[in-house]
Amino acid sequence: MKKYIPFHTVEGRAARQAHVGLPEGTYEREISKEGFFGPAAHLYHTHPPTGWVDWEGPLKPRAFDLNRLNETQASPWDVRDVLYNAHCRLRFWRAPKKMDHLVRNGDGDELIFVHRGQGALYCDFGHLAYRTGDYIVLPRGTMWRLDCTEPTELLLVEATNSSYQLPDRGLVGHHAIFDPALLDRPRLDEAYEAQKADDGLWRLRVKRRDAVTTITYPFNPLDTVGWKGDLSPVRLNVADIRPLMSHRYHLPPSAHTTFLADRFVVCTFVPRPFETAADALKVPFFHSNDDYDEVIFYHAGDFFSRDNIGPGMVTFHPSGFTHGPHPKALANAFVQSKPATDEYAVMIDTRDGLLVGDLPEGVEVPGYVDSWRTEEDSGP
Ligand SMILES: [Fe+2]
Repeated sequence: MKKYIPFHTVEGRAARQAHVGLPEGTYEREISKEGFFGPAAHLYHTHPPTGWVDWEGPLKPRAFDLNRLNETQASPWDVRDVLYNAHCRLRFWRAPKKMDHLVRNGDGDELIFVHRGQGALYCDFGHLAYRTGDYIVLPRGTMWRLDCTEPTELLLVEATNSSYQLPDRGLVGHHAIFDPALLDRPRLDEAYEAQKADDGLWRLRVKRRDAVTTITYPFNPLDTVGWKGDLSPVRLNVADIRPLMSHRYHLPPSAHTTFLADRFVVCTFVPRPFETAADALKVPFFHSNDDYDEVIFYHAGDFFSRDNIGPGMVTFHPSGFTHGPHPKALANAFVQSKPATDEYAVMIDTRDGLLVGDLPEGVEVPGYVDSWRTEEDSGP
């Protein structure tokens, strides 16, 4: 049991309720432990913490346009890393029309997010159709392949040496956000039976310790006739997520947690009404989220807190500095012209620092660190 130094105080001009009724002319910044769960302080500044005019050194906010990773890869194991550490690996895969081999991840559970496309996943457990907006959790060891009926682009998030779990729903109970009954699983259906006819030599490419081994069978190993147990791939579509919100309080991103692994969380932002109380903050509050690196993959819609960020892009805000809304969004901090957000995005917050993969020229968005500057800024 952790025992943080216990006290709770208010010093100077400060709001007593976080994210509500900020003192006139101030910008609120949260410094916190354990993501949004540990001790935290809210500081009220007279300038936005993102109002920098110059930045030197290796630590900085970065953005990547994954639409520029436009080559199709035959296998997920051929796909380059976008961001990674010892506990998490993010890749973006343009799948081929039909995989000509099977794959298995021996390094950890794999979370697939279908950014675009439609088709079928065939695995040890049966056949599972997929479409845009689906999450598919594949337990480590599952043997699988894809058959795409539409061009398919996937975000792959490996929970290295770990397993995906669902978050504790706490006060709202386990049917909130999404009902576990919505989790679909593969079936031993007609389509699965039909694919068994594709017999002959099959290659299985196994990834372990990030090296690939190819095992060849003289038959189709997806030949399951039955199974039992309480472990299986599951599918959830973002359209089935019913987000928590409060009309009087801007909830932290942790309210939108979808999956947990040992050293990172996956949250999903889906459309929701803006807060309506006049004194409630209506954009993300400035925060350092000091124990985590933050990654957001933008899937669809209009991203209300960030300028010039579109679907298929990723922003990366490592720990060590404060992040928050762009100036245009900040101008609407308390007044929104629209009744609701219109954005779908996947956030991955990792407890350990991430490294950027070896990405081709043009994928990183230049000048992202300067995108908080307003025209009035007079930089050096
Ligand atoms: Fe954050």
